[in-house]
Amino acid sequence: MRLMMSWCSCLVVVFLLQASHGTSGSAYNITASEPLFPNQTLVSSGQIFELGFFTPNGSENQYVGIWYKNLAPPKIVWVANRELPLVYPDQSAKLMIGSDGNLKLVNGKQNIFWSTNASRRSNYRSAALLDSGNFVLQDANYSKIWGSFDDPTDTLLPGMKMGVNARTGEKLYLISWRSDSDPSPGRFSTGITSETPPQPFTWNGSTPYWRGG
Ligand SMILES: *[C@@H]1O[C@H](CO)[C@@H](O)[C@H](O)[C@H]1NC(C)=O
Ligand SMILES: *[C@@H]1O[C@H](CO)[C@@H](O)[C@H](O)[C@H]1NC(C)=O
Ligand SMILES: *[C@@H]1O[C@H](CO)[C@@H](O)[C@H](O)[C@H]1NC(C)=O
Ligand SMILES: *[C@@H]1O[C@H](CO)[C@@H](O)[C@H](O)[C@H]1NC(C)=O
Ligand SMILES: *[C@@H]1O[C@H](CO)[C@@H](O)[C@H](O)[C@H]1NC(C)=O
Ligand SMILES: *[C@@H]1O[C@H](CO)[C@@H](O)[C@H](O)[C@H]1NC(C)=O
Repeated sequence: MRLMMSWCSCLVVVFLLQASHGTSGSAYNITASEPLFPNQTLVSSGQIFELGFFTPNGSENQYVGIWYKNLAPPKIVWVANRELPLVYPDQSAKLMIGSDGNLKLVNGKQNIFWSTNASRRSNYRSAALLDSGNFVLQDANYSKIWGSFDDPTDTLLPGMKMGVNARTGEKLYLISWRSDSDPSPGRFSTGITSETPPQPFTWNGSTPYWRGG
């Protein structure tokens, strides 16, 4: 794992979080009747990871992300709406479970800034942040319908699999932030090549930049 972590350290961005307004409550799950608001965070049961609204230093945009709860300065490991930010401070935004059973990030006008795209299989759903850092949407039996590990940002956490998403067949890449204040997809991407044996590979745009051994 050490090797993996240093291999992707070029993609890892460390910055300070601006404290969001009166972060007051913490919750352990999101349900259809209990969305997550900007004044709350979701914490994993062992208090290892935290999910909530954040604004990078130097940015006027608001994102939903996951960070290590007890690491200073905070290190964001996953961003939901990296392509479509909310404008800070949007206190009317919420992360909710919609009537179609998917997680949705909406603003006060119900415009969607990010959503999961899982098919409907059960009526009751909840979402929780696991101690592994995986943010999961689950059914009434706690079986996983979607997980943030299936949709990585720029950080490989232990337990996350690179390569191909087993459910969708989609290739998984880590993609760098554009800059320290902008989590939108940047130039650098890391993935595993499909040759045998598979090799970790980093590209700068379309140019190979680094190949692992
Ligand atoms: C959500 O969290 C509350 C409070 O900890 C707990 O009582 C409830 O059982 C949890 N629900 C699910 C679906 O995990
Ligand atoms: C958090 O924000 C929501 C939505 O604006 C509001 O209903 C709730 O009362 C707030 N909770 C606290 C503890 O401030
Ligand atoms: C982040 O903001 C704090 C104060 O708001 C400032 O002291 C610090 O230099 C900033 N850091 C970066 C990386 O911009
Ligand atoms: C959602 O999934 C369906 C079926 O897999 C696909 O056709 C559609 O393009 C997806 N939509 C988004 C927004 O990813
Ligand atoms: C939960 O598990 C029970 C027993 O295995 C099954 O009958 C039920 O359909 C499952 N519910 C969902 C929502 O998957
Ligand atoms: C990545 O590519 C761009 C455009 O070719 C170049 O300007 C930049 O220096 C490269 N970065 C690194 C770290 O090689």
